Amino acid sequence: MPQTDVIIIGSGLAALTVAYHLRHKHVKIITKSSWSQSNSMLAQGGIAAAVANNDSWKNHFEDTIAAGCYHNNVKNVEYLVQEGPRELNEWIHRGVKFDCDTKGQLLLGKEGAHSHHRIIHAGGDATGKELTSFLYYQSKPYVQIVENEIAIDLIIEQNCCQGVNTKNNQGEINSYFASHVIIASGGCGAVYGQTSNTDVITGDGIAMAFRAGAELADMEFVQFHPTMLHINGKCVGLISEAVRGEGASLVTQNGEAFMYTIHHQGDLAPRDVVSRAIFDEMEKGNQVFLDISSINNFNSRFPTITALCKQYGINLASGKIPVAPGMHFLMGGIKTNENGETSIQHLFAVGEAACTGVHGANRLASNSLLEGLVFGKRIANYISSISAEVPQSRTTKNKAKQVNEKPKLPTKKQIQEIMTTYVGIQRSNTGLQLAIKWFEKYRDQISFQNINVKTFTINEIEVINMLTIGWIIATSAFERTESRGGHYRIDYPERNDQNWQRKQVMITKSEMF
Ligand code: SIN
Repeated sequence: MPQTDVIIIGSGLAALTVAYHLRHKHVKIITKSSWSQSNSMLAQGGIAAAVANNDSWKNHFEDTIAAGCYHNNVKNVEYLVQEGPRELNEWIHRGVKFDCDTKGQLLLGKEGAHSHHRIIHAGGDATGKELTSFLYYQSKPYVQIVENEIAIDLIIEQNCCQGVNTKNNQGEINSYFASHVIIASGGCGAVYGQTSNTDVITGDGIAMAFRAGAELADMEFVQFHPTMLHINGKCVGLISEAVRGEGASLVTQNGEAFMYTIHHQGDLAPRDVVSRAIFDEMEKGNQVFLDISSINNFNSRFPTITALCKQYGINLASGKIPVAPGMHFLMGGIKTNENGETSIQHLFAVGEAACTGVHGANRLASNSLLEGLVFGKRIANYISSISAEVPQSRTTKNKAKQVNEKPKLPTKKQIQEIMTTYVGIQRSNTGLQLAIKWFEKYRDQISFQNINVKTFTINEIEVINMLTIGWIIATSAFERTESRGGHYRIDYPERNDQNWQRKQVMITKSEMF
C-alpha cells in the first residue's frame, strides 16, 4: 500500500506552501480536480502586509481585529501580521514578481477596512495566479501530485489519523497511509449558488474531518464578497475590492452613492457591511453598479477584470459594472491550534479549511493568501520538528455495514436555494429552523451511516459533503443569538459582547448525532 510522510488534501496556496517547506520529506498532494482548480488561483486583489514606511504591523493588527469584530484569536493575528512582511520578502527573493513602479518600489493598493495602503499585487489583478503558479513550479520536483481523485474519508484509529480513502475519476477506491495528513481543501463556496469560488469547492475536507470526529468552529461566519459581476441575476466572477481601493464607488441605477450614509469608511467599509448595504438596495428593487469612471488606466491596472467584463459584454467605457454580493470565504472551519493541529492526532488543517481564529467574524481583505503563506510555513516547520511517529496499525477497518438501498439525494441546486434563502446574508430564527429541519431529512447520508459511500458517484459524494456543511452552518447560525461580522440575524441585529465576544460555536459529530 502506498506509504508517505505527509499527505496534503488540496492544491491551493496553503497546500503548496506546506509542500514547499516540507520538500525534504516524502509528500503527496491529493486533489480532486487538476492542481490549478483552486480559489487561490482566482484571488485578484493581493496580499496584505505592512511594508510601507508609514505603516506598522500594529496598524495591520488593529485593522484585522476591527474588521473581524473582535472575535479574532489575537495571538494568531499578531503572528500573521508580524510574519507577513518577512514572508513576502522571502518570496520576492525566491523570484516572485510583484508589481513595482519604475524605481522598483512595490506598488501598494488599498482595500476595504485597511487604514493604510498595504496590498501587494502581481499581474495587476492576478496575484493569486502568479503566486500559486510560482509555488507550484517550485514544489513540483519534490512532491507527488495525484490529480482527479477525491478524498472521501479519513482513516482513523483511536483518534489518530493514519491516512485517507479516495475515489478517482475511474471510480476506483484507493487507501493512502501517512504519518501526517493535512487538510488544505479550502472552504465551501459551492454550498451557496452565487459564489466567487471555483465550483469544485464543495466543503469536502471540512465535511470529512467532521465525519472523522474533528472539532469545527465558527461555521456561522460566512463572508459574502460585495462586488461580483452580476449578469442576468447570476454572479459570474469577482470584481476585486481593489477597484474600490482605486476610487470606484457603489451607486444605484440612478447614480446615487449610498455607502457614506451607512459607514464612515464609505465604499471601503468592511466587507460584511458593504455586502449587507448592497443586499438592502437590491431588496428595495434597486440595481447596484460600481462606478469606475474616476479610474485612469483601468484596463492595464485590472486586466483580469477587463477580460471578464468583455466576456460578458460589459462596455467599460460606460463607467458602470453591475454587481451583487456572492459567497466568498468561510471564516470558520476545522478548529486548529497555532501549529495547525486539529482535535485528531496527526490530522492538521491549513488555509480556508482551518479555523485558526485569525479572521474572527469577518476576514480583512487580502489576509487569506497571507494566511496561506504564513501558517503554511508554520505548520511545515512544526511537522519537521516533531518525530515522525508511524502509527502502529496499518489496516483499514472494513466493518461490514448494514447497507440500505441507495438513498435519494437532493440536487446541488436545491441545497444552494435553501442556503441562500435561509442561511444567507440575512438570517432569522424561523428561517434557520426551516433550514435545519430540511437538512435533518438527510441525517443518514450526512453521518455516512447505513450507506455504502463507495457505491456513490463523485457528484453524490459532493452532495453529501454540501449537505453536511449546510447543516452545520445553519446549526451554528441558529446557536449564535447575536449579529457579528459575516453572521447577521434580523431577530438579533446587535452585537452582544457580554455573551458572545470571542465565544466560539463549536460543532462535533458526537453532538450532532
Ligand atoms: C478581492 O480582490 O476583492 C478579493 C481579495 C480577498 O478576498 O481578500
